[in-house]
Amino acid sequence: MKRRRVLLATTVALAIAGSTGVATTAFAEESARGFVNVAHRGGGGYAPEMTDAAFSLLPSQHPDVTEVDVQLSADGVPVLMHDATLQRTTDVADVFPGRAADLVNTFTLAELKQLDAGSWYHDRFAGEEVLTLDDVLDYVQPHGIGVFIELKDPAANPGVEQAIADVMNADPRWADMIADDLVTFTSFDQASLKRMTALQPEPPLVWVNSTVPSDTVLAEAATWADEFGTHYRTLNGATDIARIKATGMRAMLYTLNSPDVMQEGLDLGADTLITDFSGALSAVESGGNPVPQANGIVVKDVVADPPGSDLQPETGEHVVLTNVTSERIWVSGYYLNDAVINTLVVGSPYYIDPGAELRVYTGPGTNSPTKYYNDLGRNVLNNNGDSIAVFTSWHALVDLYAYT
Ligand code: G3P
Ligand code: CA
Repeated sequence: MKRRRVLLATTVALAIAGSTGVATTAFAEESARGFVNVAHRGGGGYAPEMTDAAFSLLPSQHPDVTEVDVQLSADGVPVLMHDATLQRTTDVADVFPGRAADLVNTFTLAELKQLDAGSWYHDRFAGEEVLTLDDVLDYVQPHGIGVFIELKDPAANPGVEQAIADVMNADPRWADMIADDLVTFTSFDQASLKRMTALQPEPPLVWVNSTVPSDTVLAEAATWADEFGTHYRTLNGATDIARIKATGMRAMLYTLNSPDVMQEGLDLGADTLITDFSGALSAVESGGNPVPQANGIVVKDVVADPPGSDLQPETGEHVVLTNVTSERIWVSGYYLNDAVINTLVVGSPYYIDPGAELRVYTGPGTNSPTKYYNDLGRNVLNNNGDSIAVFTSWHALVDLYAYT
């Protein structure tokens, strides 16, 4: 519990100074916030995850920290990649035919550098590269932004902890980051976190689990972890937050992608909130506009699990858009992204009149002025909840919506 020692020291210092401030963490104090704002995957809602395009936006979004997922290349370099394979976030199927389903760690760094890690999100991001852990320093260190390093699928990446430690020992900027309390290790894998802290003892540890376990399991975790993170949609509200905090661990929630759920996370007293839209979270916290380019086209509803099949013709899963302004708005070329950037588009020509609705379907059907069918051949809208970001054809973010 390295962080707890920091908390104790800070609490004492504030008491001596007669401050009425609430001691939280070094991150929170630096940002004058009562919580830590974490840009998930480098802020992967605004631009392709963990690329130059995403990281370059961080200073303007004002997160405290960016989260990155680390795996090993075949030649042992810690690289930034979330999925086990490269299929979702690169053009591996085109560049290396026959290897698209192969694990990330079967590709050398030189091979990974041949991939386009941006076009999958949108053509406007063509040419983005796969980056390494060390690359992250250039984007965060000059701005005092922290890094949550997630050891992603460490069982499939043996030696990843030593490789991360080696990277940190090779560049003195990492020592500065650690000394400034700007590095944290996170993982779903407890054994990996324990191996990591044995090699690099200073950074705090966040154990992540998709649900909140029993009090007994939490209490055991609190003997070695500083923070526990879980999915906000599986959370039993304030009760679970209290159970986590009762152990002495801080409470982290992921991945909160609409102003409503961000506010709920803040109201619950979570210590750390992870979001793909850290700028929106900064605005929610400060009372600003979380979607500054909003134009009145908003998500009214998501019908993710209609009676029958999600992809049935005419009446399958869909998003309902509406226009809350008093003017007709053209929406041709608008696109809707879920949290992992499955994209539904709006065809052409389409507009929405004031108060009217446009239903954007995943499956097949007969287009009409109020219905547009993507006919993707696969379902997209998660029946267990997800988020939808609405972008114009020129990539202005106009709405953020989450459903359960
Ligand atoms: O660390 C919390 C969060 O990043 C876990 O979700 O799937 O993005 O790694 P995932
Ligand atoms: Ca992650």
